Amino acid sequence: MNLAKRSFANRRVLLASDRADRSEDLAAILVKAGEVEQMSTYDMPEDPAGNYAGVVVDIDLSSLSSVQMVRRKLTSKAYEDVPRLFVLSDALHRESTQAWSLGATDTIRWPFDARAIQQRLAMSFPEREEEIEAGVILNDGVSAAQDVLVKIFDKLPAGVPLTFKDISQAEDKILKSLRGSSLRQWLIAINKHHSRTFRHSLFVTGFAVAFAQHLGMRDSDQRRLARAALIHDVGKAFVPAAILDKIEPLTPEEESILSAHARVGFDTLGSQGDFPPEMLDVVLHHHELLNGTGYPEAIAGQEITDIVRMITIIDIFSMLVEERPDSPAMSHADAFAAMENMKDEIDQQILQAFRPIALGV
Ligand SMILES: [Fe+2]
Ligand SMILES: [Fe+2]
Repeated sequence: MNLAKRSFANRRVLLASDRADRSEDLAAILVKAGEVEQMSTYDMPEDPAGNYAGVVVDIDLSSLSSVQMVRRKLTSKAYEDVPRLFVLSDALHRESTQAWSLGATDTIRWPFDARAIQQRLAMSFPEREEEIEAGVILNDGVSAAQDVLVKIFDKLPAGVPLTFKDISQAEDKILKSLRGSSLRQWLIAINKHHSRTFRHSLFVTGFAVAFAQHLGMRDSDQRRLARAALIHDVGKAFVPAAILDKIEPLTPEEESILSAHARVGFDTLGSQGDFPPEMLDVVLHHHELLNGTGYPEAIAGQEITDIVRMITIIDIFSMLVEERPDSPAMSHADAFAAMENMKDEIDQQILQAFRPIALGV
């Protein structure tokens, strides 16, 4: 993945224009390099506060009033560090002088040449180092999690044993990734994953670690939650893809094959030898409900441990907000409200503690 390009695409370009006649063409070119926010020079924010990769100014540089409007903004302290590209209509010396007096980083010319503009853009609006750094850290964490999921969902059913170390060695990078970047960035990065099962486990992992960090848990507890999230659906490795990826509603028989993943996962993990009881507990019980109506053992109340309660809440929330082929994803607010309506099925106290994470992204 080209990190520089990706982090650029995550920042917007502000297109300040009073040239409605031609700025549409310019916007169409800029949008290929990232998000574009077009506005009149009058509407330019007083404080861009790091929201923009840079400003492209397309105004009539021969008009005094146009120049004055943008001068006030661009010469202010708030715009000091914002790179700016000016559009020149022709080779008139006066226009380029104006542009340089307004602190032009570079200029581009009308009529527009898409390739040239994109090159200038890439040079004039360079990535900030810390953003590239955050992108690398994010990527490291996502890749580490993905590597684990390959071992769980691809290699394990093919007979390659899974060890506790396979899971735990990814924890550092995942924790660091969510500390150094943000849950939002994590979710954006994983949302394009082709496999619904991978995507789901990556969602649960992101939410679980962000939740643990939000609660100020010790590092060792953050790790416990990360590994529980990664492993919780291990049993799905043995559910046929035709069921996991089926778009239409499942038949009762398919439902029961899918539901068996909790038990299958528990048996599989148990036979691998070195997994702590707590992880086996999560794998077996993450579909149990506090009022005893869950599966596979229909245990209730105090029989359900805290870590299982947390994973259950995160698991349900993730399922609701993930994009699905058969229905649009639920908004985070709707998903949270639906879970409040689950009343005594889930731990409502933990759910409330989860609220800032659920609604914060
Ligand atoms: Fe599950
Ligand atoms: Fe799950």
